[in-house]
Amino acid sequence: MIVHHSQFPHAVQRQLLNGLRLGRVPPKFLYDGDRQTQKWLAVHRAHSPSRTDAGVQSIYDRSFDESLGQAAGGSICLIGLGCGGGQKDTRYLAKLKSIGSTINYVPCDVSQAMTRVAREAAAAELPLERIHPLVCDLANAPDLDQVLDTIVSPETKRVFTFFGMIPNLEPDVVLPRLAELLLEGDQLLLSANLAPGVDYRSGVETVLPQYDNAETRDWLMMFLVELGVPATAGRLRFGIEEIDGLLRIVADFEFSESLELSIGDELCEFAAGRALRLFFSYRHTEKTLAMRLAKHSLAIAASQIDSSAEEGVFRVERV
Ligand SMILES: C[S@@+](CC[C@H](N)C(=O)[O-])C[C@H]1O[C@@H](n2cnc3c(N)ncnc32)[C@H](O)[C@@H]1O
Repeated sequence: MIVHHSQFPHAVQRQLLNGLRLGRVPPKFLYDGDRQTQKWLAVHRAHSPSRTDAGVQSIYDRSFDESLGQAAGGSICLIGLGCGGGQKDTRYLAKLKSIGSTINYVPCDVSQAMTRVAREAAAAELPLERIHPLVCDLANAPDLDQVLDTIVSPETKRVFTFFGMIPNLEPDVVLPRLAELLLEGDQLLLSANLAPGVDYRSGVETVLPQYDNAETRDWLMMFLVELGVPATAGRLRFGIEEIDGLLRIVADFEFSESLELSIGDELCEFAAGRALRLFFSYRHTEKTLAMRLAKHSLAIAASQIDSSAEEGVFRVERV
């Protein structure tokens, strides 16, 4: 396993402190550590349409089939950016196996525990020596291409997946990184959570219960409680916010009493009435996604949208 310096303990602690002081928890902290990983996997099992809805599973399969023609022949490396538990990547690996001579897999995630779970899942399709876990914060790894060069040989075709990541990362931070990473001949498949229906805002309101539920509250609160914030110190409130023309579902913890936290050897204070942003999830329409990708020289080459119009898988190219 390779651990990129963006996930070295000192850097991670500094990012957490800075985030808490600014009132915004960087999304990666919600997935890090064994217990957070297990909690998130429980949320995913219970609420992710890719796990609960056969129609959504089938858009991933269709997208994999569509992309196979582009990847055929030679050796192929699947690089799962933000691989999570690796279920989707593993389905893709099973299909790639049928066309490529040699397949390698790089499960890449900010959480070491997730890369281990993904490695285990992928082991059903590939020998362990062809699986190369990489622990890395994609938002803080401008040298990711160089790290990948040490794992993937130059003659290998690279296929990147970026599933479930569009909602949780700031588009203007991560999309330029993705565009830089894509070299000629590479493929990128990404998924986005969509707002169903003709009206963007009502579509987002419709999917709010997928977030405001017991499992998600439990997952978010566990992060705070482990940090030293008692659940009784305030309340968790979900809402919808517009930012730069995009709508996102947000969850804030509103402190009802003042609290002082010690993180490492530093203190962080929260006054009563202050809100801490714990979670956000951008929802798109195909149009808002295409526009945001275009801003960073990326374009949708093929799309698969599920029948409820709540999730889409897109093959994206650099233009
Ligand atoms: C919503 S999950 C998606 C997991 C998986 N790709 C799927 O679709 O099931 C988001 C994943 O991104 C990872 N993640 C969050 N922020 C990240 C970052 N800055 N760099 C790398 N991975 C990150 C989390 O650990 C988590 O596994």
